[in-house]
This record gives sequence, C-alpha cells and structure tokens, in this order.
Amino acid sequence: PTNDIGHLIRKADVPSLFQSRKNDTHKGSYGTLAVLAGAPGMTGAALLASRAALLTGAGKIFVALADTPPLSLPCDPMHPELMVRDAAGVLDAADALGVDTWVAGCGLGTDDAAKGWLTRVLQERPDANVVLDADALTLLGGDQVMQAAFRQRKGIKVLTPHPLEASRLLGSDTHAVQADRIAAACAIAARYGAWVVLKGSGTIVCSPSGAWRINTSGNPGLATAGTGDVLSGMLGALLAQGLLPEEAVAGGVWLHGAAADRLVEQGIGPIGLSASEVAQAARWIRNQG
Ligand code: APR
Ligand code: MG
Repeated sequence: PTNDIGHLIRKADVPSLFQSRKNDTHKGSYGTLAVLAGAPGMTGAALLASRAALLTGAGKIFVALADTPPLSLPCDPMHPELMVRDAAGVLDAADALGVDTWVAGCGLGTDDAAKGWLTRVLQERPDANVVLDADALTLLGGDQVMQAAFRQRKGIKVLTPHPLEASRLLGSDTHAVQADRIAAACAIAARYGAWVVLKGSGTIVCSPSGAWRINTSGNPGLATAGTGDVLSGMLGALLAQGLLPEEAVAGGVWLHGAAADRLVEQGIGPIGLSASEVAQAARWIRNQG
C-alpha cells in the first residue's frame, strides 16, 4: 500500500532534526567525520559532501582525498574549516583523530588505490558509522572481502544508491530496480544488513530489518550533478551528531528534498538549482525549526 500515510516521510516524522543545541556543549559533542572521496579530477565531489556535512552541523570534518601528497588541493578556500589530507594519512591517524563516522565514495574512483582505502575503512574501527555512496557502492557490489567486512561492522551502515548503483549491489539491472523500487531497496537492505536510501523521484528509505518509507519532499531541480554528494555529507553529519539512525536517515533525506523545495519557492530552482545551494537551504530550514 504505497499510499499508506504510515509509509510516508514528512517533517513531523523527523523531530530530532530540529532539536536545539544545549549550551553546555563543544565541537566534540557534534561528532568527527571523515570523507573518503575525490580522486584527481573529482575533488569537487569530496568538497560538496564535506561542505554539506559542515553546514549540517558536524563538529569536525576531515577530507580524506583520494590523492597522494602533494595534494591537488591543500585546503578548501571557501571553507578552510575543512581539514584536507590525503586518504592514507587520515586512515593511519583515524584513532588519534577520533573519527566516529565515515562518508565514502563520492568521486572516489574504482582503481586499486580506491579499493585499498575503502577496504581499510570497512575493516578498521568497526564501531564507526559508515555512509557509502557512488563509487564505494560499485566497489562493494563487486568485492566479497569488502562485503564480509561490511557485514561484520557494528556501527550504523547506510548505502545511498541511485538506481544504477542499486542494480550493481543486487547484480540486476536498472529496469528491474525501477520496476519495483520498494522491493529493490528492501532486497539491498536485507542482503547487506544496512540502511538503504534508494534515490530518485520518490526516494525510498529501508531499514536493515525491512521497514520501508517513501520521502515526500524534493523536486526535479535536484536532477543536477552533485546533489547526491551533498546528501551523503548531510547523512554523515546527522549520524556524527548522534541522531538515531531512523531519524538521521529519513531526516536527512527529507531535509535534502525540503531544501530543494524551498529553493524552488525562492525562484532559485528547479532550473539551474545547484548542489551547493541545497546544503545552504537545508541549514536554513534546520535553524528555523
Ligand atoms: N525528483 C526528486 N529528486 C531527484 C530527482 C527528481 N526528479 N532527480 C534526482 N533527485 C535527487 C536524488 O533522489 C538524489 O538525492 O537528487 C540526488 C541525485 O543523486 P545522484 O544520482 O547520486 O547524483 P550525483 O550527485 O550527480 O552523483 C554524482 O556519483 O553516483 C555517482 O554516477 C553518479 O557520477 C555521479 C556522481
Ligand atoms: Mg551520486
């Protein structure tokens, strides 16, 4: 029953997005995130996810670039708050840095180096939360060692495929995924033991135990490069801030769509809406309450 109101994600369903900050807190209270992303030529994907995490309130953010020193980008001039390092450097120091949530995959690439870094993310620090997107999903779908490491993790696990990436996770094709999006999202959740966000018009969220919901926010303005990177950064930031997974995942998906809806109301979209603006509008919505 896809029109059952209990299966919809609306603002009222995600109240913890709007919880106000307590006075007696510090940056450590809002989590430490690392973003494994951005192979040479795709640095923008890493920055989109990382900037979105910053604007969504994560306490500290390391950009673990899929690059080797000297880095193609020493820091983000727009957001020098972000700590840009090379992937191996962040992985080697993850304990000392206190990374509690990883976002991995945006523009990561699928070469052997990317594979090695992602394997380490999945095998090390099993209590950390992980959000896997884009190239990380392609790698995970084709690698049994990574799948075993992924299954054994204790932290919160989120997969954010678009339909093609979903088909790679299932070994099917996009036509089959789109023919029954709810079934596809639930099949991935069951196979990987993870939260699944099957993106596209009417994004489906499915819990590891098979409880699914359909998002009600968003519009075709989001059909532009980089909005998926922004979503994964937002989800990572909400997990890093300690929201329960059901509110972080459903809440992040709702907020991302609601931000696009606000931009349309303002005449900033749907035509020409840009991914960076989605993160900014999401921040405004969250602070308005
Ligand atoms: N209506 C509502 N939401 C939409 C619509 C639409 N018509 N079209 C797209 N969206 C939303 C999706 O739900 C998702 O949240 O926009 C976002 C698009 O995410 P992606 O498909 O991951 O797009 P993108 O950010 O460009 O991905 C960057 O990574 O996933 C790979 O192959 C992808 O190279 C690309 C890169
Ligand atoms: Mg994408």
